[in-house]
Amino acid sequence: MNNLINVSTALPPIHLYKLLSALSLAMNYNRNGLMRHHQRVALICSYLAEEIHMDPDKLSQLFCSALIHDAGTSTSREKADLEQFEIIRPWQHCEKGYNLLYNMPILAPLARVILHHHDRWDGQNPSGLAGSAIPLSSRIIFLADRVDVLAYQHGNILDHRQEIMSQIKARSGIMFDPELVNAFNRVSRKESLWLDLTSQYIDIHLVRRLRTGPVITDQEQIIGVSKIFAQIIDNKSPFTHRHSRLVAETATLLAGQAGFTEWQQKNMYVAGLLHDLGKLSIAEEILEKPGGLNKQEVNIIKQHTYITHQILSMIDGFEEINQWAAYHHEKLNGEGYPFHLTSSDLSTGSRIMAVADIFSALVEDRPYRRGLPRHQVDEIMNRMVETKSIDEDITRLLMDNYREAEILKEGLV
Ligand SMILES: [Fe+2]
Ligand SMILES: [Fe+2]
Ligand SMILES: [Fe+2]
Repeated sequence: MNNLINVSTALPPIHLYKLLSALSLAMNYNRNGLMRHHQRVALICSYLAEEIHMDPDKLSQLFCSALIHDAGTSTSREKADLEQFEIIRPWQHCEKGYNLLYNMPILAPLARVILHHHDRWDGQNPSGLAGSAIPLSSRIIFLADRVDVLAYQHGNILDHRQEIMSQIKARSGIMFDPELVNAFNRVSRKESLWLDLTSQYIDIHLVRRLRTGPVITDQEQIIGVSKIFAQIIDNKSPFTHRHSRLVAETATLLAGQAGFTEWQQKNMYVAGLLHDLGKLSIAEEILEKPGGLNKQEVNIIKQHTYITHQILSMIDGFEEINQWAAYHHEKLNGEGYPFHLTSSDLSTGSRIMAVADIFSALVEDRPYRRGLPRHQVDEIMNRMVETKSIDEDITRLLMDNYREAEILKEGLV
């Protein structure tokens, strides 16, 4: 990977690892809340890489791969499977991750590493690889990943070091590269590794340890990375398989009609792709539940825009994108969530996103109904204008461009 890629206008330089570290937080929620699995794996990788004096040119590929190694996992069921130390069939999510990444120029170098991140040292892998033929970064991530699974323990992590180490040693030369196991045995003596891993300030340790790799200064690359995350979000359910893309396309169409510059339209596209980032934390049983949700389930759903907001606020230069993305369930009358903003707080961009999101949700199939025809969409959205939930002018803009919006939907497979 190049160290500096393309210089563009108003975007502050963003380290790729920082962008991935923030966005991957969305993948780290399971039923027990935020686990920070990807960040923890990247941190263990950094200790291992230091111990084996890994080629500095390879570090960024290792760290960035570690930060999204489970990109092929979207549902709670898939995540729960990976929490078992001995996974029965891990390769499906490796292949899915590879397929997501290999086409995207800035992330393509990570694809092969991710494809092999569960390959066993002794072979028996669908990839056909064994031993040192498995990419070194994949071997490091595999070991770090399994250490992290063992490290989710109650109490003082230092009390569990020996037990974790003996589980790893028992699989040296079978699952894991023996030299890496030896290296890990040496670094595991450092209390700092375990304390960094369980620290509330892991972000600070990561910045200190991962400071390397490509810097993004180009909007197209941001779009590329955002598309991957949109796919991870939309893979959660067959009913939302194109939701993020449709919201992004519709919002960009409306932004163009509302006179946004090309630069702003591209930012709107990114905001649309990422608006439901926080949905990765919601169980599919709730997202796909036919019929009404109970109060607890509604409260779970309400967390998703808060999480989107938290994550996007970690990315420099994303302030406006964050407002457009994370306020899509706010309403002009103050009855939305999670901030209960009112018309004076909601910019045109945020209003556009709300309209694009509602339109997309109404025209898409849901487990309990087919996508709605135009007259019903019209009726529902007009009622929302009357109750001051959504913006009248933006809604009119959508209705004036309805056929174009439908064509956008038909173009997404
Ligand atoms: Fe994995
Ligand atoms: Fe993992
Ligand atoms: Fe949403």
